This record gives sequence, C-alpha cells and structure tokens, in this order.
Amino acid sequence: MAAIATGSVVAVIGSGAMGSGIAQIAAAAGHTVRLFDTRAEAALKAIADIGAVYAKLVEKGKMSAADADAARARLHAASGLAEMADAALVVEAIVENLDAKRALFADLEAIVGESAILATNTSSISVTAIAARLRHPQRLVGMHFFNPVPLMALVEVISGVASDPAVAATVFDTAAAWGKNPVHAKSTPGFIVNRVARPFYAEGLRLLNEQAADPATIDAVMREGGGFRMGPFELMDLIGHDVNYSVTQSVFNAYYNDPRYTPSVLQQELLNAGFLGRKSGRGFFRYGEGAANPGP
Ligand code: NAI
Repeated sequence: MAAIATGSVVAVIGSGAMGSGIAQIAAAAGHTVRLFDTRAEAALKAIADIGAVYAKLVEKGKMSAADADAARARLHAASGLAEMADAALVVEAIVENLDAKRALFADLEAIVGESAILATNTSSISVTAIAARLRHPQRLVGMHFFNPVPLMALVEVISGVASDPAVAATVFDTAAAWGKNPVHAKSTPGFIVNRVARPFYAEGLRLLNEQAADPATIDAVMREGGGFRMGPFELMDLIGHDVNYSVTQSVFNAYYNDPRYTPSVLQQELLNAGFLGRKSGRGFFRYGEGAANPGP
C-alpha cells in the first residue's frame, strides 16, 4: 500500500490551530492544498500565517527559498466545499462535535470522487459514529495529529468498525511520507493519547481545586520532576479549553460516566468566561498584553 500520490490534492476543512498546521505540512510535502473554513477570511489568514512560517524556516536555513515559494503557491483558500471535488484526501479539522462532523462528511460525500479518502482529525469522537451515516463508511478513518502539527511527529491512524484496512494503510503511509511517525489504533474513546492523558489534566485540576499549588507551580513540577515537555495547565491553554473540555466530556460519556473522567467545573467556568487559552489571549495564564499576570 502506498501513500496518496505526491502532487495530488489534499482538502483541509477547518483552518484553526490544527487545520492550518495540517495544510502547512501537506503543502510542504508537495500537495496542492485546498483550505476551507466557515469563518469568513479564516482560510486566507491561515495561508498568510503559513507563508510567514515558511519564511521563518527559510531564515533559519531549514527550507530553501524556492521550496517555500513553491509550497506557498500550492495553498489555496476555498470559498466552498464544491471546490473539493478533485481531492484525493480530505482531512477534517472542524469543531469537536459529532453532528457537525457528520453533516460535513455527508456534504463532502456528494462532492468528492469515489476513490477519495475521508479523514477526521477528531480528538475523541468515535470514528465509527462519524462514518456511520456515509454511503461508503469504509473510506473514512481518523488521522489524528497533535498540536502543534508541524512539530509533533505522532499521528494516530484510527480505524472505525467499518473502515477499510487499505484506507488506513494509505493514510498511515501518507503520514509517514509527510515526515510523521504514525501508529494504528482502533476507535475507542480518546484513542491512545487522549485516553492516557485524561488523568494528567484531571489530577492537575483537582490539585488546583484543593489549592495545593498554583498552575505555574504544578506545571513546573511536572516539567522538571515528571519529565513532561509541558505541564497540564500550559498544555490545556495550548490545546484550547473548548477542545480539551469537549474531549473530556466525550470520553466521560463514552465510558458510561466513569468518575475517573469527570469534567472539571473549574475548566467549565473558564469556558463560560470565554477564556479558551492561548487562542483567546487568556486561559489559566494570560498571553500577549497582561502576560505578566497569570490567571485564572
Ligand atoms: P479551532 O477552534 O482552532 O478551529 C476549528 C475551525 O473550524 C475554526 O476556524 C472554525 O471556524 C472552523 N469550522 C467550524 N465548523 C466548520 C465547518 N462546518 N466547516 C468548516 N469549518 C468549520 O479548533 P482546533 O483546535 O483546530 O481543532 C479542530 C479539530 O481538531 C477538533 O476536532 C479537535 O478536537 C481536533 N484536535 C485538536 C487538537 C488541539 O490541540 N487543539 C489536537 C488534535 C486534534
């Protein structure tokens, strides 16, 4: 089984933190990338940001100027899903919500060709459930990247009950061709990483609730003592509390309300306040102006 052809079209739906990272690496790997987002101008802004990242890589000597120009020229903002008709692979990175993902893939199935592969970057939703309403559920798998996409090597390739192993193998080989370290996994709640990571966040949040220490201290301890690259609070701020909370909710629900996965009221309050983390300028910590004063 081989990766999708170099130069073939990759459609990326959703141009937030994950979609823009996926678009960046797919274009750098030689694909024409069509990027779509329902937020007006979001795809254009993402492409401008990716261009700036390529320029930095050129400055650092990690990419040639010619490669950067060519990759930038392969990125196209789409004004609608109809422009995805020629995609060999669609990677969905929209909001973490089953109904929204199902509706999107139903629309896409009417547009893309029979051989197009559909992939979801969901963090935790059942790949089996996302595929269930499709006419060809065997063509959908999870292609779960990690944040930030260009830096994180791991990709979980998730097979649902109906997924064709050949499709999973193509996605696996495609991730490898893009310089990633893919692994195969079955569609279980949270897959591997987000399942194992739930207690990391939950215990940090419990410690904070019990006023054992502040977020910066807990993060520092987990970095310096635990050997983690990031502590739980800075990581939740990076991931986004909207995304992180809905992943916890979905794992909690999928495991019949197992108390080990109980979502945090403290985190819900951050969401209620609109403090989504880095992307909104404030989560447990503040970013940009006022960054000297840690939250919450
Ligand atoms: P984000 O909030 O940064 O971006 C999502 C984007 O999708 C937004 O720009 C939004 O306007 C757009 N969107 C929403 N509905 C849409 C639709 N129907 N069609 C087109 N665009 C639509 O979210 P983020 O963090 O990029 O997450 C996207 C997906 O990736 C989620 O499923 C999330 O669970 C998953 N994920 C997130 C990770 C993280 O660390 N943030 C890590 C791995 C996976």
